[in-house]
Amino acid sequence: MELELKKLSPEDGRDVYDLLQALPADENGFMNPANGLSYDQYRDWLRFAAACLEQVGVVDGKVPETIFWLYEDGRPIGMGKVRHLMTEALLEKGGNIGYAILPSARGRGLGKKFLALLASESKQLHAGRLLLTIQNHNQPSIRVALANGGRIERVTADRHYIWIDP
Ligand SMILES: CC(C)(COP(=O)(O)OP(=O)(O)OC[C@H]1O[C@@H](n2cnc3c(N)ncnc32)[C@H](O)[C@@H]1OP(=O)(O)O)[C@@H](O)C(=O)NCCC(=O)NCCS
Repeated sequence: MELELKKLSPEDGRDVYDLLQALPADENGFMNPANGLSYDQYRDWLRFAAACLEQVGVVDGKVPETIFWLYEDGRPIGMGKVRHLMTEALLEKGGNIGYAILPSARGRGLGKKFLALLASESKQLHAGRLLLTIQNHNQPSIRVALANGGRIERVTADRHYIWIDP
């Protein structure tokens, strides 16, 4: 099994489109804005998301964000986001890093490996310490974070706040 991260590109094609249609639009707070788009709309969204990679500083409350695809043996099976900066709002909800694995590929340890790859990649983005804000019911994601050296800072009525030193 070969795992590889690829950065979102305006040139991404049908395989990434199919992944984005199979990942829910909102699952445990992980947002996939491309779910439900037509293929042409997806191509526009790719261009918009690629521009966010180049953004400097906070623009209209939005921080720069890099989206990655996790490929297993040449097939995209995961979507991950690394936010380069934190705002007050993201410190409460959102954090630096988010990930989702194709439902049919879950439970094989790929989530843990995906977060390790994203954390390693985040060093190049100078994102610093990484915050995950995980809903309390989302035990798989909490286990993924803890398996990657995550330290629980606090637990509120809604969320676990877990920090990772990449
Ligand atoms: C979170 C997610 C990425 C995990 O992906 P995955 O490939 O299944 O993860 P792994 O196989 O590496 O590990 C999952 C861990 O959760 C555990 N797990 C799975 N289902 C579980 C459940 N229902 N209850 C408790 N633990 C569970 C697994 O046993 C494993 O932990 P362990 O190896 O320590 O026993 C995946 O569930 C997902 O995409 N969820 C939807 C999006 C999401 O919630 N993203 C996180 C937002 S913060």
